[in-house]
Amino acid sequence: MDYPDALIQVIAAPDSQTKDALLATITPPPDGATWPLPTVPQRPGRPASWREGEPARRRRGLGNPHARLRFLHAIHHIELSAIDLAVLLCLRAPGAPAALHRDFLAVAREEAVHAALVEDLLTRRGFPPGSDVIHHRLWDTALAAEDLGGQLVAVPRFLEARGLDVSADLLPRLAGIDPEAHGVITRIYTDEIGHVGTGSRWHAWWCAREGLDPFQHFTSTATRLFPGQVPGPFPLDRPGRQAAGFAEDELSWLAIGGKSASLAP
Ligand SMILES: [Fe+2]
Ligand SMILES: [Fe+2]
Repeated sequence: MDYPDALIQVIAAPDSQTKDALLATITPPPDGATWPLPTVPQRPGRPASWREGEPARRRRGLGNPHARLRFLHAIHHIELSAIDLAVLLCLRAPGAPAALHRDFLAVAREEAVHAALVEDLLTRRGFPPGSDVIHHRLWDTALAAEDLGGQLVAVPRFLEARGLDVSADLLPRLAGIDPEAHGVITRIYTDEIGHVGTGSRWHAWWCAREGLDPFQHFTSTATRLFPGQVPGPFPLDRPGRQAAGFAEDELSWLAIGGKSASLAP
């Protein structure tokens, strides 16, 4: 099977174990290999019994065990979706160096580990994946990004980076409430700094190839894809984001809502 077909199969597979088993068989293509972009499915594969819907708003804090299960359920689906997104990124990267494919296939496999860790926690607590509704906003956002550069902004540098903000805010509180979940989210947080860093490096590479300024491309793409969402609801995780390659001008722009930066000449 050729590389793009193998990637489509991963996206179509229903669960993290099947996706990971398929990923284990995929070899990155040689430098510069190209292919026509195949039709991407409207929805990634999921078990037939899972229901798509809008989760009820969380009214109770993480000290409430059921609220925590529903939160972990949402995290699980984010991790499962993250496999699909990393694979979609590879699919959108004909002509790229082999190293880009190696990097994002490795990210996809790490996301499968994250999904499996959270699935194990949920299953042992009697609330396995599929117990709550799921949504496909991450997938829809990635598709809306249109091209490789747009997805590098939307996924690793916006959504996953925002995951760092959320985790950094949450982890100190979670430590005293649920040490086991705290351990899993800490592992995920540490790996995600690597994913965002990978996104930053390849975004810089893509901008250089296209002759674009990375700051301009980052801010204009984030404004277009996430209108009204800068600044985000959580404080910026500056140490995490700096470790993941965010430049000071990008952090300032994210912190002030992009207003003065986008109006500057
Ligand atoms: Fe992850
Ligand atoms: Fe990630």
